Amino acid sequence: MAAAAPPFSAPAAAAVAAALLLCFFSGCNAQTPVFACDASNATLAAYGFCNRSATPAARAADLVSRLKLAEKVGFLVDKQAALPRLGIPAYEWWSEALHGVSYVGPGTRFSPLVPGATSFPQPILTAASFNVTLFRAIGEVVSNEARAMHNVGLAGLTFWSPNINIFRDPRWGRGQETPGEDPLLTSKYAVGYVTGLQDAGSGAGGDSLKVAACCKHYTAYDVDNWKGVERYTFNAVVSQQDLDDTFQPPFKSCVIDGNVASVMCSYNQVNGIPTCADKDLLSGVIRGDWKLNGYISSDCDSVDVLYNNQHYTKTPEDAAAISIKAGLDLNCGNFLAQHTVAAVQAGKLSESDVDRAITNNFITLMRLGFFDGDPRKLPFGSLGPSDVCTSSNQELAREAARQGIVLLKNSGALPLSAKNIKSMAIIGPNANASFTMIGNYEGTPCKYTTPLQGLGANVATVYQPGCTNVACSGNSLQLDAATKAAASADVTVLVVGADQSIERESLDRTSLLLPGQQPQLVSAVANASSGPCILVIMSGGPFDISFAKSSDKIAAILWVGYPGEAGGAAIADVLFGYHNPSGRLPVTWYPESFTKIPMTDMRMRPDKSTGYPGRTYRFYTGDTVYAFGDGLSYTSFAHHLVSAPTHVAVVLAEGHACLTEHCLSVEAEGGHCDKLAFDVHLRVRNAGEVAGRHTVFLFSSPPAVHNAPAKHLLGFEKVSLEPGQAGVVAFKVDVCRDLSVVDELGNRKVALGSHTLHVGDLKHTINLRV
Ligand SMILES: *[C@@H]1O[C@H](CO)[C@@H](O)[C@H](O)[C@H]1NC(C)=O
Ligand SMILES: *[C@@H]1O[C@H](CO)[C@@H](O)[C@H](O)[C@H]1NC(C)=O
Ligand SMILES: *[C@@H]1O[C@H](CO)[C@@H](O)[C@H](O)[C@H]1NC(C)=O
Ligand SMILES: *[C@@H]1O[C@H](CO)[C@@H](O)[C@H](O)[C@H]1NC(C)=O
Ligand SMILES: *[C@@H]1O[C@H](CO)[C@@H](O)[C@H](O)[C@H]1NC(C)=O
Repeated sequence: MAAAAPPFSAPAAAAVAAALLLCFFSGCNAQTPVFACDASNATLAAYGFCNRSATPAARAADLVSRLKLAEKVGFLVDKQAALPRLGIPAYEWWSEALHGVSYVGPGTRFSPLVPGATSFPQPILTAASFNVTLFRAIGEVVSNEARAMHNVGLAGLTFWSPNINIFRDPRWGRGQETPGEDPLLTSKYAVGYVTGLQDAGSGAGGDSLKVAACCKHYTAYDVDNWKGVERYTFNAVVSQQDLDDTFQPPFKSCVIDGNVASVMCSYNQVNGIPTCADKDLLSGVIRGDWKLNGYISSDCDSVDVLYNNQHYTKTPEDAAAISIKAGLDLNCGNFLAQHTVAAVQAGKLSESDVDRAITNNFITLMRLGFFDGDPRKLPFGSLGPSDVCTSSNQELAREAARQGIVLLKNSGALPLSAKNIKSMAIIGPNANASFTMIGNYEGTPCKYTTPLQGLGANVATVYQPGCTNVACSGNSLQLDAATKAAASADVTVLVVGADQSIERESLDRTSLLLPGQQPQLVSAVANASSGPCILVIMSGGPFDISFAKSSDKIAAILWVGYPGEAGGAAIADVLFGYHNPSGRLPVTWYPESFTKIPMTDMRMRPDKSTGYPGRTYRFYTGDTVYAFGDGLSYTSFAHHLVSAPTHVAVVLAEGHACLTEHCLSVEAEGGHCDKLAFDVHLRVRNAGEVAGRHTVFLFSSPPAVHNAPAKHLLGFEKVSLEPGQAGVVAFKVDVCRDLSVVDELGNRKVALGSHTLHVGDLKHTINLRV
């Protein structure tokens, strides 16, 4: 994207030159954090915006009142210009922490002082744990490491994570970054991770932020580059119904329940309007309905894109005006620094619109302590390089991978017994994966444990890559060496799948089959194995591995996502039974025939008249290779329904139309929703021989009105049980919140009639009547 430097004052330029020199001589071994309002400077300390006793809003108003328009626009962009006359240093808003502190945003970097940070699994694997406590625990560790790096000048305070778009199509290259296809799981992930990042603890002021998270990319964004259709110009045609029950719920939870400090609008259009220029979506929904306490940012650079790529406005000034007036506060890129002054001068927007935007940005920085002087004297000020990559942080990365790994097939070969294995063949292009394990939006990890290293710590191994890389083209196949290794070992572990050359940002897949000659490699090695052959799929997105599922030569199958820096250790923990697997698939695994439908068709619901199968477990009507929620254990669990009502009465106010006429549904808000709730109690027993963890899913199938989903998840709870132990899991079901569906106009409705609850094989019907 075109970019011009913001107006730079001479002292700021000198400061940058000095910093570059320092960087040159010390190897960028930065030690000093950036901050405003240095308390040792009496002039600065006297400014109203530096007054720590005043509210962030009052301080921001004071600061805005001191600025000229030309200065204000420097605070609309991620590379925030320095303002030396008020003692405000340059600040880079763009940092990333998708699954660990990342070097992808320019606001954060590693140096000899902090050479790496803990790299957790990609969110798609962490989500498979269905453990909300874990989501939050990871956020807490990541924000500790971020604050520690901030204190030595290596990281910002504003992190543009998590990615909570629904993984609507299995081909999406960025599905790996998300918590999967289900709105409830994605909402719970967003709230858990965001509160873990942001919560400054009870000691800090009520509105303080540890770091600022950002839920992105708002909204209906899940096409990157599919057969030449690019996110920069894609218009997502979305019905109000799909928008409100699939794409919006995670953002709504993130803002309302997670109290996130930022939402980022996407590149794409929704129904013909670029999201960053859509006043209804930004001011109307995020700030109006959901009451965002924070700032709305663009993607990098969606404002430039809506002008230069989409030609949505005639002039760049119109693009600046329409996006700021829509509710945008910060522009990743430089477009608003370049064009906003001219837009105000041309009368396309008023200076008060600019004031509103920078006020939201200033308040966020104030809540972070940026205007409170040296952060080393503030809460989190004692964190430093020794708090990054601690052994407990790295242990949590290994634990997260263990909790997420999904066992898809097990004919009894697993768990392996290390003492009975004299030699193990480890084969496949991901068998010794390192960088591949940390996915994208990565940082330099503390260290790697590859699958080969993890398994090799337990048994003697022979390694053969089988193909030179995951693309596994015909001439890179090394079948002979691979089959020989499999034939002479007691057990074979095949580690195949994908990496960023197959699925990534700006690259969607066109096939769901294993890349290149991988299926041939798998079949030949499985055929040649003298002992059990175990197939490990390392990938973000799902694959059609029907051939392996049905092959009696393949004894077990695991999906391990992109498991993070400790992935190899976690794989070994699961294969050898040191950890009993409990991960469950957060996405549907479709057959290859699914790729006949265009990725660009956003419709969630099936259409019988055209054979369109619909999307995700809530709507998809076709066959699956594996289903949402699939995942095995080394033990077995039995469910028993302890209590749940069979009838629930909805008491409507006098005069309600549905008292006299027959209604299929009633509104999911209003007086009749008060206390309209019931409990479902389930007993879960570990019926096997080993301890295990188990996710209890509570699904509901609503009556077939309003094109409702076939079933949807209304709650999940993870329990840990010793052999023979039983526990009771209680779900509180709020009828209007949990049993409602979205109607054709986007309104939430509670369908009257039979709702069937499902837990495992249990089914229970509840009749909702007026
Ligand atoms: C700082 O703000 C507080 C609260 O508004 C106010 O009482 C106090 O006088 C201010 N201090 C200065 C030095 O202006
Ligand atoms: C205090 O800060 C102001 C504004 O940046 C600056 O002009 C002045 O030189 C500083 N004073 C001292 C003593 O550093
Ligand atoms: C496996 O990967 C590690 C880390 O990248 C590397 O040091 C090692 O040499 C590799 N092992 C083999 C046998 O290629
Ligand atoms: C595996 O063996 C079966 C027969 O045992 C054979 O039909 C098949 O072609 C073999 N597959 C490969 C890939 O070698
Ligand atoms: C959830 O994760 C946390 C953090 O790792 C862990 O302590 C807890 O045991 C997990 N819960 C279950 C039921 O696995």
